[in-house]
Amino acid sequence: MVTSSAPGKVYLFGEHAVVYGEPAVPCAIERRARVTAREIDEGLRIHSEDLKLDGFTVEYDGDGAGRPDVDASEPLLEAAMGYVNEAVAQVRDAADVPDAGFEIRIESDIPLGAGLGSSAAVVVAAIDAATRELGVELSAEAIAERAYQVEAAVQDGEASRADTFCSAKGGAVRVEGDDCRTVDGVDNLPFVIGYDGGAGDTGALVAGVRSLREEYDFAADTVRAIGDIVREGESVLGSGDYETLGDLMDFNHGLLSALGVSSRSLDSMVWAARDAGAMGAKLTGAGGGGCIVALDDTDDALTALKYTPGCESVFRAELDTDGVRQE
Ligand code: PMV
Repeated sequence: MVTSSAPGKVYLFGEHAVVYGEPAVPCAIERRARVTAREIDEGLRIHSEDLKLDGFTVEYDGDGAGRPDVDASEPLLEAAMGYVNEAVAQVRDAADVPDAGFEIRIESDIPLGAGLGSSAAVVVAAIDAATRELGVELSAEAIAERAYQVEAAVQDGEASRADTFCSAKGGAVRVEGDDCRTVDGVDNLPFVIGYDGGAGDTGALVAGVRSLREEYDFAADTVRAIGDIVREGESVLGSGDYETLGDLMDFNHGLLSALGVSSRSLDSMVWAARDAGAMGAKLTGAGGGGCIVALDDTDDALTALKYTPGCESVFRAELDTDGVRQE
C-alpha cells in the first residue's frame, strides 16, 4: 500500500489567456490531495470522503458499470470517476500491467472545482501512488505528462498543462503552450484564499472567452494584455516586491472581469481583501464562482474576508515548494 500527496494551486497570473498560448504562472499551495493505492486481484474500488460529495465508494470491474450511491450532481460524479479511471489507465500503461486492479482511497483538503486544481492534485497523487505500488517510480515530469493526458481526455482536449505541471513539481511554475518550467528563487508568497462555496463551469467559461475573443478585437487585445501582465510579473517574481506583484494581480483581475469570468461573490471578496490592505487580489482559475487569491502578509485580509457576505471560508495558504511526494 502506498500513499502519495500532491498540492493544489492558485494562478498568480494568466488563467484563460494560457488557453491561447500566452504564458501563465500558477503557484502550488500548502493544501494537498492524498491518495492511497493498494493493488488488488482485479477491478477498481474507489473510496472518497472529501470530494465535496458526502462520501462515496464505488466498486466495478473496469467496464465503468459501477455507480456510487450518493446524492451528488451527475456531472460532478462523472468528472470525479473519469479522472480516477483515466489515471488508472495511465498507471497500467506506465507499469505495463494492463489488468492491474486497485483499491484507491482519496482524501483532499482542496475544494472541488473552485479554481484550486483539485482534480490535477488527485490525478498526480494517484498516478504516483499506484505506479509505486506496482514497483515503478516515475519522475515528476513523467507524472505531469501523464496527468495532463488524463485531464485532456476527461476535458475533451480543453486543458492546459498548468495545473498538472504545477501540482507535480510544486513551487511557482511558468507554462506557455507545451513549454513548462519551474520558476526558481521564489520561496514564499503570503496567499490568502477566499472561497464562496461555489464552483464555476470551466468549459462554459472558456467557451465564453473564446467567443468574445472571436467577436471583438478588443477582447483578443485583452487576452494579449493578460500575457503582458504575466511577462511583467515574472520579472519581479523572485524579488519579493509584493507591492508590484499585487498591483499586477489587481490589473489581471480587472481584465478577467472584462472578459466576463468574474462574479458578484468573487468581486466582493476581491474588494474586501483590497479594502483590508491586501497588496493585490484576483480570482483564481476559471472563475464564475469558487476562489479568490489575495496577497497579504498581515492578518487583515483574512479577518475581513471572514465577515464578507458571500465568503464561505477563508484560509491562509503559503507557497508549497514540494510537488508530488510519497507520504
Ligand atoms: O478552474 P481551474 O483551476 O480548472 O482553471 C482553469 C484555467 C483555465 O485557464 C481557464 C483553463 C485551463 O485549462 O488553463
